[in-house]
Amino acid sequence: MALQKVTVKDIIEKKKKGEKIVTITSYDYSFAKIVDASNFDLILVGDSLSMVMLGYRNTLSVTMDEMIHHTKAVSRAVSNALIVGDMPFLSYKIDIKEAVKNAGRFIQEGGAEAVKVEGGTEICPTIKTMINADIQVMGHIGLTPQAIYKFGGFLVQGKTLEAAKKLILDAKNLEEMGVFSIVLESIPWQIAKLITSTVEVPTIGIGAGPYCDGQILVIHDMLGIFTEFKPKFLKYFGNIGESISQALDNYKNEVINGVYPDHEHSYEFPEQDLDKINEWFESVDINEEAHKLI
Ligand code: KIV
Repeated sequence: MALQKVTVKDIIEKKKKGEKIVTITSYDYSFAKIVDASNFDLILVGDSLSMVMLGYRNTLSVTMDEMIHHTKAVSRAVSNALIVGDMPFLSYKIDIKEAVKNAGRFIQEGGAEAVKVEGGTEICPTIKTMINADIQVMGHIGLTPQAIYKFGGFLVQGKTLEAAKKLILDAKNLEEMGVFSIVLESIPWQIAKLITSTVEVPTIGIGAGPYCDGQILVIHDMLGIFTEFKPKFLKYFGNIGESISQALDNYKNEVINGVYPDHEHSYEFPEQDLDKINEWFESVDINEEAHKLI
């Protein structure tokens, strides 16, 4: 049964009703189609695609054009979930006008309904301008992977008193600007719980414990496809990487051993002409016949 497309309002309502918000990333048509059939609330076309789809070492390498390319593929597949495009490194922190233009590309070209930006109070003016331009914005604080060189790696954030206070105040300020939800990444669960209790918009946790209003995971991580790096919070909900390897081995062995393809997986020539084509094949010089066509 076709559902109505999830809206930003629906996401905010869910917190009010005390319903958990379930979200995940996707980056291409086929995966997004499967995800959407499972009725997720929100699909993030995350800049994590830099690592899991494009093989870069971190999320800093992916470009606006690449993000738009993947967002288009996802939006062609999705008819239920809210689609959020993740603004890549340097696309929104240099100049506010450029930030709004880039955010607009996710909506106009990509088919997303909202964008996500990483950062706290320091990017409030940018968020405000985007929202004034009718672009819906999701915040993201804590371990913001675009700042890994500042943090010194993929490190848990908000572990000191000062850092925890800053996260709580950042969340408040993002809410004040009008974000419709805030991703909390890799922070202690006690701090995520405080933030969740103090903001009215939903918090979406990834490595932020059980008290967030919703959760998000990178799809290639939770399916066990991207296994190069396993943070403490990550749980494998499937072992698809191994299933793929198994299927590839089966295919390879069947081809090598002449098992695949059999006649069941092959096309038939029409029965009534079978003798004729065999007779012709036997009676002519194939090289000569071929040359006549050149
Ligand atoms: O890029 C991404 O996938 C993200 C999520 C981890 C929140 O930002």
